[in-house]
Amino acid sequence: MSKLLLIDDEADVQYSFRRNFDSADIELTTASSGEEGLALIPKLKPDLVLMDIRMGGITGLETLRRIRQMDTKLLVILMTAYGSTQTTIEAMKLGAYDYLTKPFDVPKLKELINKALKAARDMKQVVSYQPLLESEDYEQGVVGRSEPMQQVFKLIGQVAASDATALVTGESGTGKELVARAIYHHSERSKQPFLAVNCAAIPEQLLESELFGHERGSFTGATTQRLGKFEQCNNGTIFLDEIGDMTPPTQTKILRVLQSGTFERVGGNQPIKVNVRVIAATNKPLEQAVAAREFREDLFYRLNVVRIHIPPLRDRRDDIALLVNYFLKKIAKEQDRKPKSIATAAVKALEKYHWPGNVRELENVIRRAHVIAKSEAILPADLPSEVTGQGVANTSAPTVGENSSSDATTLARQLFQIAKRDPKLKVLPAVERELIIEALKESGNNQVHAAKLLGITRATLRKRIEKFGIHREMKIG
Ligand SMILES: Nc1ncnc2c1ncn2[C@@H]1O[C@H](COP(=O)(O)OP(=O)(O)OP(=O)(O)O)[C@@H](O)[C@H]1O
Ligand SMILES: [Mg+2]
Repeated sequence: MSKLLLIDDEADVQYSFRRNFDSADIELTTASSGEEGLALIPKLKPDLVLMDIRMGGITGLETLRRIRQMDTKLLVILMTAYGSTQTTIEAMKLGAYDYLTKPFDVPKLKELINKALKAARDMKQVVSYQPLLESEDYEQGVVGRSEPMQQVFKLIGQVAASDATALVTGESGTGKELVARAIYHHSERSKQPFLAVNCAAIPEQLLESELFGHERGSFTGATTQRLGKFEQCNNGTIFLDEIGDMTPPTQTKILRVLQSGTFERVGGNQPIKVNVRVIAATNKPLEQAVAAREFREDLFYRLNVVRIHIPPLRDRRDDIALLVNYFLKKIAKEQDRKPKSIATAAVKALEKYHWPGNVRELENVIRRAHVIAKSEAILPADLPSEVTGQGVANTSAPTVGENSSSDATTLARQLFQIAKRDPKLKVLPAVERELIIEALKESGNNQVHAAKLLGITRATLRKRIEKFGIHREMKIG
């Protein structure tokens, strides 16, 4: 449950927020002035503040200044009437997370709020790298006791104590982002913001502006001036994920920030100075990209000051049992119940598998087994067949037994009733597409596994992915 504080003197805005945001996941509190908001914050401890810039009493700008004195990390989104760019920029300099212009577009607002809440959670969630399984309190942590992971922990400790740039490498799902957050939490900058930018998820033309901001009119669509992540994150830590996907001009700008702490906004010519710690990550071998002249060599060396390489899970199988226990605890905690246990034979099977999707795949397998296990213990039969090495016959994916087919009939009837109300909805393709996306998410993008969940062949799955253009979307989303 996230706590949202809205500070706005307009009753209409308060009403519209209550209608749109008071939900099971979000607890909304409203204040009608800056003074009232400031008085609420220490007790309420909101995760996110949304605030109007122009209010009676003290201004939004002054309120923000005082919020910053109380809490350097509390995320604040400002709401402004269209055209008041100057104040907005002033406010962003004071450390606002983002701003919105009124009247709002509700879906956009929701998206921004969700993004900010995730950033707030990431900042708050302490990522520990000490052995923590013995303690009763559950904490998020980088789990592992194997020799290679001990090495990783040592490096995290060293890097955290310094202010050096760090490069985290490893295959997909090995825990690069987790390690980056552990460095942040143990660093001197832990009281300052942490912002993550996924360079691969943002379209090329927008990445530069996302990172460095832009001046008004610098490109089509740049109707207002905007600050980038480097400015928003001043004094904090920025996590540049999938750094191998940056274009050469962006690489050049990053190099300059690392060397001199300065950059210009897109379309601007005034150098801006910031103090930001950079942690970068990639799952591509950057050395190869350098050799192919796709990645600047000087930038590579500048990033590679401290390198933390996380080995794939198959090279540290000793950690598997530990991770399984950790995930069982994590799931139990999320669902507020006692952790399920797991049969030794099931753990043995997990230890043998080669884990192409690494720890993420392991977590997904455990989550899935947790759902389908009929008793309080997870058995080998609850694991996917590629893990246990059994044929399809032994798979625990839902089979078309009597029960599941009658469930399917009920579901189909319900869907059909919904579809009847909206003649424009092409129900079959729409449902098929959603099912495929769900299955891919569930399987950590493992197509073999996803196809099995859907009860189709991998070739069919591939064709559907192509037909619905799913991968393009999943990469961005
Ligand atoms: N050592 C670990 N201990 C506990 N959880 C882990 C560990 N490594 C990874 N995880 C979990 O696995 C998932 C994937 O980790 P993360 O997102 O950090 O991987 P990544 O290397 O950034 O992957 P990608 O390259 O696909 O972005 C997360 O849910 C993370 O919490
Ligand atoms: Mg990642």
